[in-house]
Formats: sequence, C-alpha cells, structure tokens
Amino acid sequence: MNRRKQIYEGKAKVLFQGPEPGTIVQYFKDDATAFNNKKKGTITGKGVLNNRISELLMTRLGEIGIPTHFIKRLNMREQLVREVEIIPLEVIVRNIAAGTLSQRLGIEEGTTLPRSIIEYCLKNDALGDPMVTEEHISCFGWATHQELDEIVNLTLRINDFLCGLFQGIGIRLVDFKIEFGRWYNGDDVRVVLADEISPDSCRLWDMKTNEKMDKDRFRRDLGKVEEAYQEVARRLGILPESGPGDMPGSKAMQ
Ligand code: CDP
Repeated sequence: MNRRKQIYEGKAKVLFQGPEPGTIVQYFKDDATAFNNKKKGTITGKGVLNNRISELLMTRLGEIGIPTHFIKRLNMREQLVREVEIIPLEVIVRNIAAGTLSQRLGIEEGTTLPRSIIEYCLKNDALGDPMVTEEHISCFGWATHQELDEIVNLTLRINDFLCGLFQGIGIRLVDFKIEFGRWYNGDDVRVVLADEISPDSCRLWDMKTNEKMDKDRFRRDLGKVEEAYQEVARRLGILPESGPGDMPGSKAMQ
C-alpha cells in the first residue's frame, strides 16, 4: 500500500495513484460510517466483499453497455479504475419507500412505489449532503442539462438491470445510491458510472423474509452485519458456500 501515492481517503475507501496515467487504485476498507459520520464502526471483511460485489455489478453493467470507471480487480481489497472527475451528486434511486423518503414524507416503509424515483443530493459532508433539484444543479453548474439527461438515462437502465439481477437471487432492490464522473479521453468527455455499488450503498431486502441485507443492519444495530454482506456475495455466486474462510488469501479479510 505504501508503494503508491495516496490521493484521497474517504469513509470507506482510499484512492491511490494508479500504475499508468489516468488510472487510480481503489482500496476498500472495513470502516463503516452512518448518519453523516456520527456513527462509526468496522464491519470485518466488508472491504473484501464490497470489492468483489462492486466488481461483479460494474462488470455486468459494462456488458449491457453502461460505461463505467471499472477496469479490473487487482487483489482482495483493490481494484483499478479510470481516473474521472466526480460529478458532485449522489444519485439516489428508489423502488420501495424506506429511509429518508419514509421519514420526510410519511410513506410507510416497504410501500412499493408506483414508479421509480430519482433524487439528487449534493456531495458535501459539511452541509449533510442536502437534497437538490435539477434547477440547483444547472444553476450552480454541478452538471449541464446534457449531462443530467445522460445521468437519468443511464440511471434508469442501471436500475432496471440491477432490479432484475437481484430479483433473480431472491433480493428486492429497495433503493441505492450511485455516482457518476467525467472521463476525459483525448478530446472526448463521457459520463461514466463511478465509485462503487455494494450493500454499503444499496438497500437490499430478502424477498421471502424482508430481512435487511445491507448497511441498515449497521445503521440500526440489527446485528449479523458481516453475515448479511456475505449472504449477498454468496447469492451473487462470488463466495464459496462454506463462507469467506475458503476464499484464497482469506487472511486479508482481517
Ligand atoms: O442513508 P439514508 O437512509 O439516510 O438516506 P436515504 O436517502 O434513504 O438513502 C437512499 C439509499 O442511498 C440507501 O440505499 C442508502 O444506503 C444510499 N445512500 C448512500 O449510499 N450514501 C449516502 N450518502 C446516502 C444514501
């Protein structure tokens, strides 16, 4: 880890300079935070699982033509990604009412929404990631109209694809957060899916029992957090039936 120059340390990941210009190494930590950093903890093995889960989801999305920053997984906790300029928005997609939507609007948690909703929050921890509208986004130049159109198109495709993928393994995709970046490639600039998609950034409920299989187990002290992340990975087919102990190099889980 010390070989490379650290570019940035976030709550759940560290970014290092990549081996070639225009590349970055994303290192996944076990650290977990919630409620805008007010709650902190560790979920053992989370970084390893999120690295694998995000790799799988980004790869599948790439296969259906969604441009992503993902290049390849390097090892248990690291993946190589394209360097992008992050668009400072958290794009939230909701299929079922939960979390802040239920709190703000009094919609009972678990209500299936008649249509999927996209919300935007400004990425700004000091302000608590406030929700913003397209008006704010274009007024303050966080993204252009054209970029927002692209973001909406990609987000709806990502949502449809991921809903189906999770349904196939008995999981309801309640809501999730994604981020996009601008990838400068010569004279060309493209909006690409960036960051990660994992149980840290999704609400995933078991279809039969409605049990939560995501970071809400940590946020709400529900216990069995590690087990929930492992179960998502197992159903996605990236964890041996017998658990993470059987993964090559499993000592890196600790
Ligand atoms: O996370 P919280 O319930 O406070 O906010 P939300 O707006 O209900 O979150 C919607 C979805 O976006 C959930 O799946 C969250 O895990 C995810 N999210 C995230 O990954 N990071 C954030 N900073 C905010 C939301």
